Amino acid sequence: MENKNVVISVSILSSNFMNLEKEITSLNFSGIDEFHLDVMDGHFVDNISFGLPIINCVRSLTELPIETHMMVDDPYSFVESFAKSKINTFTFHVESKSNIRDTISLLKEKKIRIGLVINPDTPISAIEPYINDIDRVLFMTVYPGQGGQNYILSVNDKINEFAKKYSNNNILIGVDGGIKLDTIKNSFLSGARMFISGTGILDSKLGYLGVVKEFRKTILK
Ligand code: DX5
Ligand code: ZN
Repeated sequence: MENKNVVISVSILSSNFMNLEKEITSLNFSGIDEFHLDVMDGHFVDNISFGLPIINCVRSLTELPIETHMMVDDPYSFVESFAKSKINTFTFHVESKSNIRDTISLLKEKKIRIGLVINPDTPISAIEPYINDIDRVLFMTVYPGQGGQNYILSVNDKINEFAKKYSNNNILIGVDGGIKLDTIKNSFLSGARMFISGTGILDSKLGYLGVVKEFRKTILK
Protein backbone atom coordinates (compact mmCIF):
# COMPACT_ATOMS: atom_id res chain seq x y z
CA MET A 1 0.00 0.00 0.00
CA GLU A 2 1.13 3.55 -0.68
CA ASN A 3 0.85 6.54 1.61
CA LYS A 4 -1.62 9.34 1.15
CA ASN A 5 0.75 12.22 0.34
CA VAL A 6 -0.11 14.12 -2.79
CA VAL A 7 1.40 12.54 -5.89
CA ILE A 8 1.77 14.48 -9.12
CA SER A 9 2.26 12.29 -12.15
CA VAL A 10 2.82 13.27 -15.77
CA SER A 11 1.24 11.50 -18.73
CA ILE A 12 3.66 11.77 -21.65
CA LEU A 13 1.01 10.92 -24.24
CA SER A 14 0.91 14.48 -25.59
CA SER A 15 4.64 15.16 -25.28
CA ASN A 16 6.98 15.89 -28.17
CA PHE A 17 8.04 12.45 -29.37
CA MET A 18 10.42 14.12 -31.85
CA ASN A 19 12.59 14.77 -28.86
CA LEU A 20 11.58 12.31 -26.22
CA GLU A 21 14.90 12.27 -24.38
CA LYS A 22 14.79 16.03 -23.85
CA GLU A 23 11.14 15.86 -22.76
CA ILE A 24 11.74 13.11 -20.22
CA THR A 25 14.81 14.84 -18.83
CA SER A 26 12.96 18.16 -18.40
CA LEU A 27 9.98 16.45 -16.80
CA ASN A 28 12.29 14.47 -14.54
CA PHE A 29 13.46 17.71 -12.96
CA SER A 30 10.09 19.48 -12.90
CA GLY A 31 9.08 18.34 -9.41
CA ILE A 32 6.78 15.54 -10.51
CA ASP A 33 6.64 12.35 -8.45
CA GLU A 34 5.97 9.81 -11.13
CA PHE A 35 5.67 9.09 -14.87
CA HIS A 36 2.38 7.79 -16.27
CA LEU A 37 2.71 5.86 -19.52
CA ASP A 38 -0.50 5.31 -21.48
CA VAL A 39 -0.52 2.01 -23.36
CA MET A 40 -3.34 1.63 -25.90
CA ASP A 41 -3.97 -1.42 -28.08
CA GLY A 42 -6.44 -0.01 -30.63
CA HIS A 43 -9.15 -2.36 -29.28
CA PHE A 44 -9.98 -1.31 -25.74
CA VAL A 45 -9.75 2.23 -27.07
CA ASP A 46 -9.64 3.28 -30.73
CA ASN A 47 -6.09 4.63 -30.67
CA ILE A 48 -2.74 2.88 -30.51
CA SER A 49 -0.05 4.63 -28.49
CA PHE A 50 3.20 2.86 -27.58
CA GLY A 51 4.57 -0.18 -25.82
CA LEU A 52 7.79 -1.57 -24.39
CA PRO A 53 10.34 0.10 -26.72
CA ILE A 54 9.24 3.53 -25.49
CA ILE A 55 8.68 2.37 -21.91
CA ASN A 56 12.24 1.01 -21.80
CA CYS A 57 13.60 4.34 -23.11
CA VAL A 58 11.75 6.23 -20.37
CA ARG A 59 12.96 3.71 -17.78
CA SER A 60 16.57 4.34 -18.82
CA LEU A 61 16.13 8.12 -18.45
CA THR A 62 14.55 8.38 -14.99
CA GLU A 63 14.70 6.87 -11.57
CA LEU A 64 11.23 8.15 -10.70
CA PRO A 65 8.49 5.52 -10.40
CA ILE A 66 6.74 4.53 -13.62
CA GLU A 67 3.10 3.53 -13.87
CA THR A 68 1.79 1.95 -17.04
CA HIS A 69 -1.91 2.65 -17.67
CA MET A 70 -3.08 -0.33 -19.67
CA MET A 71 -5.87 0.68 -22.02
CA VAL A 72 -5.86 -2.79 -23.52
CA ASP A 73 -8.40 -5.60 -23.86
CA ASP A 74 -6.27 -8.25 -22.17
CA PRO A 75 -3.90 -6.72 -19.59
CA TYR A 76 -3.08 -10.16 -18.15
CA SER A 77 -1.19 -11.07 -21.32
CA PHE A 78 1.13 -8.06 -20.88
CA VAL A 79 2.21 -8.71 -17.28
CA GLU A 80 5.10 -11.13 -18.04
CA SER A 81 6.83 -8.86 -20.54
CA PHE A 82 6.15 -5.62 -18.65
CA ALA A 83 7.57 -7.10 -15.45
CA LYS A 84 10.93 -7.36 -17.20
CA SER A 85 10.97 -3.64 -18.00
CA LYS A 86 11.16 -2.62 -14.31
CA ILE A 87 7.97 -0.60 -14.19
CA ASN A 88 6.74 0.14 -10.67
CA THR A 89 2.96 0.06 -11.03
CA PHE A 90 0.76 -1.78 -13.53
CA THR A 91 -2.66 -0.17 -13.67
CA PHE A 92 -5.39 -1.86 -15.66
CA HIS A 93 -9.07 -1.34 -16.35
CA VAL A 94 -11.74 -3.11 -14.37
CA GLU A 95 -13.70 -3.04 -17.68
CA SER A 96 -11.03 -5.11 -19.48
CA LYS A 97 -11.58 -8.70 -20.61
CA SER A 98 -8.92 -10.26 -18.37
CA ASN A 99 -9.79 -12.15 -15.25
CA ILE A 100 -9.17 -9.47 -12.62
CA ARG A 101 -8.22 -11.87 -9.80
CA ASP A 102 -5.75 -13.77 -11.99
CA THR A 103 -4.17 -10.51 -13.14
CA ILE A 104 -3.83 -9.31 -9.54
CA SER A 105 -2.25 -12.65 -8.50
CA LEU A 106 0.28 -12.57 -11.33
CA LEU A 107 1.24 -8.97 -10.53
CA LYS A 108 1.71 -9.91 -6.87
CA GLU A 109 3.94 -12.78 -7.90
CA LYS A 110 6.00 -10.34 -9.99
CA LYS A 111 6.11 -7.87 -7.08
CA ILE A 112 4.68 -5.02 -9.11
CA ARG A 113 2.34 -2.50 -7.51
CA ILE A 114 -1.24 -2.85 -8.66
CA GLY A 115 -3.69 -0.21 -9.82
CA LEU A 116 -7.26 -0.65 -10.98
CA VAL A 117 -8.75 2.06 -13.17
CA ILE A 118 -12.42 2.75 -13.58
CA ASN A 119 -14.14 4.59 -16.44
CA PRO A 120 -16.46 7.58 -15.85
CA ASP A 121 -19.63 5.51 -16.35
CA THR A 122 -18.61 2.46 -14.31
CA PRO A 123 -20.04 2.26 -10.77
CA ILE A 124 -17.63 1.89 -7.83
CA SER A 125 -19.23 -1.47 -7.03
CA ALA A 126 -17.13 -2.86 -9.91
CA ILE A 127 -13.87 -2.27 -8.04
CA GLU A 128 -15.03 -2.89 -4.49
CA PRO A 129 -14.36 -6.64 -4.46
CA TYR A 130 -10.67 -5.99 -5.15
CA ILE A 131 -9.72 -3.00 -3.05
CA ASN A 132 -7.99 -4.99 -0.32
CA ASP A 133 -5.71 -6.53 -2.91
CA ILE A 134 -4.58 -3.46 -4.81
CA ASP A 135 -2.46 -0.37 -4.11
CA ARG A 136 -4.37 2.32 -5.96
CA VAL A 137 -7.60 3.16 -7.71
CA LEU A 138 -7.59 5.57 -10.64
CA PHE A 139 -10.78 7.34 -11.51
CA MET A 140 -10.90 8.28 -15.18
CA THR A 141 -12.09 11.86 -15.31
CA VAL A 142 -12.27 11.72 -19.12
CA TYR A 143 -13.19 8.85 -21.43
CA PRO A 144 -9.96 6.97 -22.07
CA GLY A 145 -8.23 7.11 -25.44
CA GLN A 146 -6.71 10.53 -25.88
CA GLY A 147 -5.17 13.50 -24.12
CA GLY A 148 -6.49 17.06 -23.98
CA GLN A 149 -10.12 16.36 -23.06
CA ASN A 150 -12.20 18.21 -20.48
CA TYR A 151 -12.51 16.95 -16.90
CA ILE A 152 -15.90 15.32 -16.31
CA LEU A 153 -17.06 17.06 -13.14
CA SER A 154 -19.68 14.45 -12.21
CA VAL A 155 -16.88 11.95 -11.44
CA ASN A 156 -16.09 14.01 -8.33
CA ASP A 157 -19.26 12.68 -6.66
CA LYS A 158 -18.11 9.12 -7.30
CA ILE A 159 -14.64 9.87 -5.90
CA ASN A 160 -16.22 11.49 -2.85
CA GLU A 161 -18.46 8.50 -2.22
CA PHE A 162 -15.54 6.10 -2.53
CA ALA A 163 -13.16 8.20 -0.43
CA LYS A 164 -15.69 8.47 2.40
CA LYS A 165 -16.61 4.81 2.34
CA TYR A 166 -12.97 3.68 2.42
CA SER A 167 -11.43 6.44 4.52
CA ASN A 168 -9.82 3.84 6.79
CA ASN A 169 -8.34 1.96 3.89
CA ASN A 170 -4.80 2.80 2.86
CA ILE A 171 -5.61 2.83 -0.84
CA LEU A 172 -4.28 5.67 -2.99
CA ILE A 173 -6.99 7.46 -4.97
CA GLY A 174 -5.91 8.93 -8.30
CA VAL A 175 -7.52 10.89 -11.09
CA ASP A 176 -6.58 10.75 -14.74
CA GLY A 177 -7.68 13.18 -17.44
CA GLY A 178 -8.28 16.91 -17.69
CA ILE A 179 -6.25 17.78 -14.60
CA LYS A 180 -5.43 21.46 -14.88
CA LEU A 181 -5.05 24.40 -12.49
CA ASP A 182 -8.81 24.95 -12.56
CA THR A 183 -9.82 21.33 -11.86
CA ILE A 184 -7.21 20.01 -9.43
CA LYS A 185 -8.56 21.64 -6.26
CA ASN A 186 -12.09 20.19 -6.45
CA SER A 187 -10.60 16.86 -7.35
CA PHE A 188 -8.46 17.04 -4.19
CA LEU A 189 -11.47 18.09 -2.11
CA SER A 190 -13.38 15.08 -3.44
CA GLY A 191 -10.68 12.81 -2.04
CA ALA A 192 -8.13 12.32 -4.83
CA ARG A 193 -4.49 12.30 -3.75
CA MET A 194 -2.77 11.39 -7.00
CA PHE A 195 -3.13 13.68 -9.99
CA ILE A 196 -2.18 12.56 -13.46
CA SER A 197 -1.80 15.36 -15.91
CA GLY A 198 -0.78 15.38 -19.56
CA THR A 199 -1.58 18.60 -21.42
CA GLY A 200 -2.08 20.39 -18.08
CA ILE A 201 1.68 20.15 -17.63
CA LEU A 202 2.98 19.77 -21.18
CA ASP A 203 1.07 22.72 -22.69
CA SER A 204 1.27 25.05 -19.71
CA LYS A 205 2.59 28.55 -20.28
CA LEU A 206 4.19 28.35 -16.83
CA GLY A 207 6.65 25.71 -17.99
CA TYR A 208 6.93 22.24 -16.46
CA LEU A 209 8.59 23.35 -13.24
CA GLY A 210 6.25 26.33 -12.84
CA VAL A 211 3.01 24.45 -13.34
CA VAL A 212 3.92 21.54 -11.08
CA LYS A 213 4.73 24.03 -8.31
CA GLU A 214 1.42 25.80 -8.98
CA PHE A 215 -0.48 22.48 -8.82
CA ARG A 216 0.88 21.88 -5.32
CA LYS A 217 0.14 25.46 -4.24
CA THR A 218 -3.43 25.30 -5.62
CA ILE A 219 -4.14 22.10 -3.69
CA LEU A 220 -3.02 23.70 -0.42
CA LYS A 221 -4.78 27.04 -0.94
C1 DX5 B 1 -6.36 9.35 -21.49
C2 DX5 B 1 -5.10 9.05 -20.71
C3 DX5 B 1 -4.61 10.16 -19.88
C4 DX5 B 1 -4.33 11.40 -20.67
C5 DX5 B 1 -4.20 12.59 -19.78
O1 DX5 B 1 -6.77 8.23 -22.15
O2 DX5 B 1 -5.30 7.95 -19.88
O3 DX5 B 1 -3.51 9.76 -19.09
O4 DX5 B 1 -3.20 11.28 -21.47
O5 DX5 B 1 -4.06 13.69 -20.59
P1 DX5 B 1 -4.72 15.09 -20.26
O6 DX5 B 1 -4.15 15.50 -18.92
O7 DX5 B 1 -4.29 15.95 -21.39
O8 DX5 B 1 -6.20 14.87 -20.17
ZN1 ZN C 1 -3.74 7.53 -18.43
